[in-house]
Amino acid sequence: MQTEIGRERSGTGRLSLLSGLLTDALASVTVPGQAPLVLDCGGGSGAYAVPLAAVGADVTVVDISADALATLRRRADEAGVSARVHAAQGDVESLVDLVARASFDLVLAHGILEAVDRIDETFDGIAAAVRPGGLISVLVGNPLASVLARALAGEPAVALQELRGLDTAGPRIGPDTVQRLCMRAGLVVESRHGIGVFSDLVPGSALDAPGAREVLAQLDAEAAARSPFADLAGRIHLLLRRPLD
Ligand SMILES: C[S@@+](CC[C@H](N)C(=O)[O-])C[C@H]1O[C@@H](n2cnc3c(N)ncnc32)[C@H](O)[C@@H]1O
Repeated sequence: MQTEIGRERSGTGRLSLLSGLLTDALASVTVPGQAPLVLDCGGGSGAYAVPLAAVGADVTVVDISADALATLRRRADEAGVSARVHAAQGDVESLVDLVARASFDLVLAHGILEAVDRIDETFDGIAAAVRPGGLISVLVGNPLASVLARALAGEPAVALQELRGLDTAGPRIGPDTVQRLCMRAGLVVESRHGIGVFSDLVPGSALDAPGAREVLAQLDAEAAARSPFADLAGRIHLLLRRPLD
């Protein structure tokens, strides 16, 4: 592994933390001497796919947007990794028709579960794509965090509505939904981290003091797995393992 995935792209705590989690996940599924096979569902323009290919993974990106895939191809080309990045235009709700079952070491589902209509079927397709012993990396928005964000933004009425919405039928997709789907699919939750616990709440203008951004990133990292802070993060990252058969 040459670098941590995406770490060099940004100094923000969110990316640093996530890139570290992905680096570890990739290492954990890599067979020595073989390029790990990665599937990025709704991978868009390659924010994860290109850095993953840069550290030696062979990455297939499924995305519904032709524009996003065009940007992905250009970025892969510029990074000199186009031979290891494969773009497939399609709907992740029909993943079973697009990719072979049990064929990937690591499957990413970042910011995509919120975008689909048939969540159960989509998740089953994602779970079926990973090989036994492989990992699924899920990044999902956190409905709890949006209540907090609305209140802090001076919108208490919207915050109240969102708070009440948490208990009603058909709540927004969030980490609890993922945990339920996971149990149903027989996957094991290996880790759960809050991403951007504090940095999503602090305005950039409050970070002018020298070193403040770095300390905030450290604060985010140290709170990422610590309840109750982690439960209030804007996005939650879950690492799911498909048990060996
Ligand atoms: C919020 S972006 C996330 C992009 C990337 N995964 C990331 O985390 O930076 C959602 C992506 O999912 C794609 N998308 C939305 N619905 C889709 C679907 N049903 N099938 C495949 N891709 C979809 C969009 O085109 C977009 O690129």
